[in-house]
Amino acid sequence: MGFKVAIDGPAGAGKSTIAKTVAKKLGFIYVDTGAMYRAMALFLMRERVDAGNKEAVERKCAEADITIRYEDDEQVVYLNGENVNGLIRTEQVSNMASQTSKNVTVREKLVSLQQKLAKDTDVVMDGRDIGTCVLPDAEVKVFLTANSRVRAERRCKELTAKGEACDIDAIEKDIIKRDHQDMTREVSPLLPADDAFFIDSSYMTIEQVAEEILGKVKSVWK
Ligand code: DC
Repeated sequence: MGFKVAIDGPAGAGKSTIAKTVAKKLGFIYVDTGAMYRAMALFLMRERVDAGNKEAVERKCAEADITIRYEDDEQVVYLNGENVNGLIRTEQVSNMASQTSKNVTVREKLVSLQQKLAKDTDVVMDGRDIGTCVLPDAEVKVFLTANSRVRAERRCKELTAKGEACDIDAIEKDIIKRDHQDMTREVSPLLPADDAFFIDSSYMTIEQVAEEILGKVKSVWK
């Protein structure tokens, strides 16, 4: 069966950094499900599919073969055989993924792949619907949040480090808009599972958040 840790929450709450840290400490595999939605979005962009055209998204998504491999401890996402890790972190892909991840056919395809990846292994998986939909039986479910200003500041720091300009107010506005989109969509909205525990990471370090989750894991791991 394997031990499952599900980490859900909005963009910029620190999910992937935390999930990676926790997985490493536990010796579990880490699955970043957002990367899969991003790879699908990249495919649909390349195919010039209009995100608003439901039929086109459904038809085309069948042609995307998305797989995950682990190379040097890193998750690598392959899209039809091509390593797309370096291409899926742009704002354009973020916006496309936010729209196309609403599609039921896209979700069914990727959820089934995520469930296969987690089958019979110990795993830390992060996303938006892991505790509610992908791994409803996960032993530990975390809903990780941070306030929108702190998340915008973190994003700004990343951009500045890459030498890019940033407008913190615009970024915060975008974060609030995307949260709203993710939380109010009809299919698998971003919602905490009933049995999830909340962590607000706004004023916590990565280590503090990881320790809290590890403590929870130890308390239920027999
Ligand atoms: O976590 P992220 O920013 O890389 O996710 C990219 C997009 O995919 C985001 O708009 C939310 C969506 N997503 C989702 O709908 N379900 C998931 N399990 C993971 C991500």
